[in-house]
Amino acid sequence: QWTTSSIVDEQVARIREQVGNGKAICGLSGGVDSAVAAALVQRAIGDRLTCVFVDHGLLRAGERAQVERDYVAATGIRLVTVDARERFLDALKGVTDPEQKRKIIGREFIRVFEQAERDLKAEGDYEFLVQGTLYPDVVESGGGAGTANIKSHHNVGGLPDDLQFTLVEPLRALFKDEVRRVGTELGLPETIVQRQPFPGPGLGIRIIGEVTQERLDVLRKADAIAREELTSAGLDRQIWQCPVVLLADVRSVGVQGDGRTYGHPVVLRPVSSEDAMTADWTRLPYEVLERISTRITNEVAEVNRVVLDVTSKPPGTIEWE
Ligand code: XMP
Repeated sequence: QWTTSSIVDEQVARIREQVGNGKAICGLSGGVDSAVAAALVQRAIGDRLTCVFVDHGLLRAGERAQVERDYVAATGIRLVTVDARERFLDALKGVTDPEQKRKIIGREFIRVFEQAERDLKAEGDYEFLVQGTLYPDVVESGGGAGTANIKSHHNVGGLPDDLQFTLVEPLRALFKDEVRRVGTELGLPETIVQRQPFPGPGLGIRIIGEVTQERLDVLRKADAIAREELTSAGLDRQIWQCPVVLLADVRSVGVQGDGRTYGHPVVLRPVSSEDAMTADWTRLPYEVLERISTRITNEVAEVNRVVLDVTSKPPGTIEWE
């Protein structure tokens, strides 16, 4: 019988065998896969695992706290956070092209991670690198080009090949739903185990136009409201993900009280999907849309219009960039 607890036991035994008395590093992205992989390794080797979490400033509201507080409380994992917010903002200055943004974010991420790794190596011999590779990733990279080239899906968790590490990949035989079950079995918080997909480049590709601190703050507020309302309406399981996109270079006239406003629109992009290769726009209840719209325009001063994306994929991708 292939139970979740037997998966955990088997993987813990394998990790112990592979790592022996060695030390391991794991980059956490805030997503399910790296969180579960690290928790398994922590269970196997305890404090000989150190996790590195890079705050690139493109995270959503509360995500850093979810990792630093909730995840650490649940696992007791040894965590190093690198605050690289300014560095990413500087690197993204003036950049508007989506692929360019991805390249820059991916490049900076690797540099920051490599620095963290050098710092750790200076204090001990870290020989192993933990990665949350799943079975579908293994199959995908083994062959079948798929449609991967439509956008360069540069996964920000992805690292260069020339790292001097032996890989530990405890999720290589598992599918996503099994990974979530393992995460639950290990006592990880719901907010992490059930998290919807979120792109590695984060809010950086949800600001159409240049990424600035002010724009990130605006988008973070709008996004937090949309997520809060969707969750409290009990819709999280129905929706694959719901990007909230700030059209930062577009302005439209509005009116509030006695005054004319000239603000920015945000787009809601709720989609239903099985695997993100195709998607349909989710028919959200009007009451929920209304609450989201009212709250965003009331609570986020810079936004005076909320619009709904009703395009399927294809032809529209899920993200706007
Ligand atoms: P699209 O926009 O291509 O997105 O329909 C499909 C799925 O991939 C996610 N996505 C990304 N994930 N790095 C990532 O790690 C990226 O650059 C990236 N671009 C899109 C998107 O959120 C959706 O789940």
